[in-house]
Amino acid sequence: MPLPPHIRTDEDEDHLFRLLRQLDVAPEASQRALASALDISLGRLNAQLRAATDAGFIKITERDNTDKRKRVAYAITTRGASEKNRLTDTFLKRKFAEYDKIHAELTGTTSGFNPLKNRTNFMADTLAPIPELYVSYDSAQKLKMEAADLTSHDLTARQICDLELLMNGGFNPLKGFMSEADYDGVVDNMRLESGALWPMPITLDVSEKEADTIEVGQDIALRDQEGVILATMTVTDKWTPNKALEAEKVFGADDSAHPSVNYLHNQAGNVYLGGPVTGIQQPVHYDFRARRDTPNELRAYFRKMGWRKVVAFQTRNPLHRAHQELTFRAAKEAQANLLIHPVVGLTKPGDIDHFTRVRCYEAVLDQYPASTTAMSLLNLAMRMAGPREAVWHGLIRKNHGCTHFIVGRDHAGPGKNSAGDDFYGPYDAQDLFREHQEEMGIEMVDFKHMVYVQDRAQYEPADEIADKDNVTVLNISGTELRRRLAEGLEIPEWFSFPSVVEELRKSRPPRAQQGFTVFFTGFSGSGKSTIANALMVKLMEMGGRPVTLLDGDIVRKNLSSELGFSKEHRDLNIRRIGYVASEITKNGGIAICAPIAPYATTRRAVREDIEQFGAFIEVHVATSIEECERRDRKGLYKLAREGKIKEFTGISDPYDVPTDPELSLETESVEVDNCAHQVILKLESMGLIKG
Ligand code: PPS
Repeated sequence: MPLPPHIRTDEDEDHLFRLLRQLDVAPEASQRALASALDISLGRLNAQLRAATDAGFIKITERDNTDKRKRVAYAITTRGASEKNRLTDTFLKRKFAEYDKIHAELTGTTSGFNPLKNRTNFMADTLAPIPELYVSYDSAQKLKMEAADLTSHDLTARQICDLELLMNGGFNPLKGFMSEADYDGVVDNMRLESGALWPMPITLDVSEKEADTIEVGQDIALRDQEGVILATMTVTDKWTPNKALEAEKVFGADDSAHPSVNYLHNQAGNVYLGGPVTGIQQPVHYDFRARRDTPNELRAYFRKMGWRKVVAFQTRNPLHRAHQELTFRAAKEAQANLLIHPVVGLTKPGDIDHFTRVRCYEAVLDQYPASTTAMSLLNLAMRMAGPREAVWHGLIRKNHGCTHFIVGRDHAGPGKNSAGDDFYGPYDAQDLFREHQEEMGIEMVDFKHMVYVQDRAQYEPADEIADKDNVTVLNISGTELRRRLAEGLEIPEWFSFPSVVEELRKSRPPRAQQGFTVFFTGFSGSGKSTIANALMVKLMEMGGRPVTLLDGDIVRKNLSSELGFSKEHRDLNIRRIGYVASEITKNGGIAICAPIAPYATTRRAVREDIEQFGAFIEVHVATSIEECERRDRKGLYKLAREGKIKEFTGISDPYDVPTDPELSLETESVEVDNCAHQVILKLESMGLIKG
């Protein structure tokens, strides 16, 4: 078992630190070379190696031997790598304290490093490198090989973002996914067990089934979605969190209208694992590589450029002229250089995708003087937690070497709660940041709400326009911008840059050019397929977009031939239809679906899948069960009544009548052609086809 840190002397810790460091940088070195690098005798080295092996920090491996003698080598383990990280901190802290003492003796004043709460305080001042959790290249290669025997956890998209920032120091002082004690403190009062301020739980959630296969004390391999190993983790904690409490305390309400509360309850696993992480390699990014920087890369850049003060601008939206003006003003106010630091990890569902946004940022970058402004992409998974998120963003930016941070109105706001009210007050984030900024060591620059004053042809802060009754003040809200893009309307030059608008128009063409899905639902024999066919022909006659019909019968023949009519199979069938329709919609086509789709929850899930990419029009073909049975075109109702077909919708299986469809069609007294025409009129009224 590892010797508990409080039993070791400072000297023991120094020796262990030096040994682990040496094994990390030169794992292939012979014992003689190792002893000489550490400046100790071979006997002493062997004693140290034995102690570290017993503690599980290093492990003996057999070495290829050219001569007859059996030779061994020592390699650092996952546990050893995280111990080395911990010792790095302890070692530096002690050295700083020693320096401080000498400084005080010589000058009678403190060096400014005192009180040394943590290393971050020192680093932001000097832009010294921040600790990362990566091991050296050689050790990483060894760990990779060893990890083949470890239990693997496949990381989710959010966990990959979190892991990247843990490993590169963006989440300093965290050394891994949170332990239960850290989590409890963070949820309760934004403090880690050490007392350090940290507002956001960073946890490794897994399913109960997976948790059953993992024991506390075990090392696990953390892999990306393609199976590439990114890190190992020593599991020190495993617990079932109180998710409702987490939602209340961290997000302000246990309300699934909040995207992160929804994620917590409906996507995150029910068990959390915690423990120190040993970084093997960064997650692979194929996009915008040159624009992504680790905290140390940014710190080095600021150092090289001589930027002592840097104000960071966090954004998940494209930049327009108002943003440019406010970032200019913020930089001037703080007398600082500017870092545009957009989030390209996970943002709020429904946001403009990061590919489009980065092209927009690149288009707008010309408007900033290159000598004073930098732009870098941050692979953060946002939580939309308003005030707590603002403090978290500040700490992350501090780790990236920034001294100032812009906090606007409703920073990282999640939108409305299920009662239609805002989750947080518009300035709650600024208040919480202000309360903690001294401790955080990064200063807030409050966002000024900028509006365009037409008479002076310039942007000004809304609260500073003295003559506002005598001038024309213009502003375009986010909602209005989306409407103009959707309808292909003009976006004035005073609002944005033509190059930005051009990029936005490319990814958000007017609705009449976007893909969409018409989703018919109704009993068997209600007329879904007939109306869907008529609609398809009418849309094809109009031209412009490819049309695909996913009729119930056709799908069951081609896509779901192995499925029956149990609830589970029907759900799977509808989810498959939804998936294909969402791909068609994403790529600008029209999907017409015509399954029975009897369950409301499944229809809602399909709607959510599709609405990310385009409109979803639910059409209830409201033919009554009596009428369908009377028609009995396929003779199935008769068989169902005789019990020869089981689980028949409307007879022996339920149908949830849609409560809020975009359109409901009466077929009993209306011609098919007219029904299809009603759909066309609906599509026209939604701007999806031109009148
Ligand atoms: S579901 O529930 O949405 O998956 O059903 P769907 O794929 O649309 O069903 C397609 C056709 O299957 C025939 N059929 C049944 N329907 C309902 N219940 C049972 N048990 C059943 N068994 C076979 C039926 O003819 C459906 O065709 P439509 O086009 O709706 O008449």
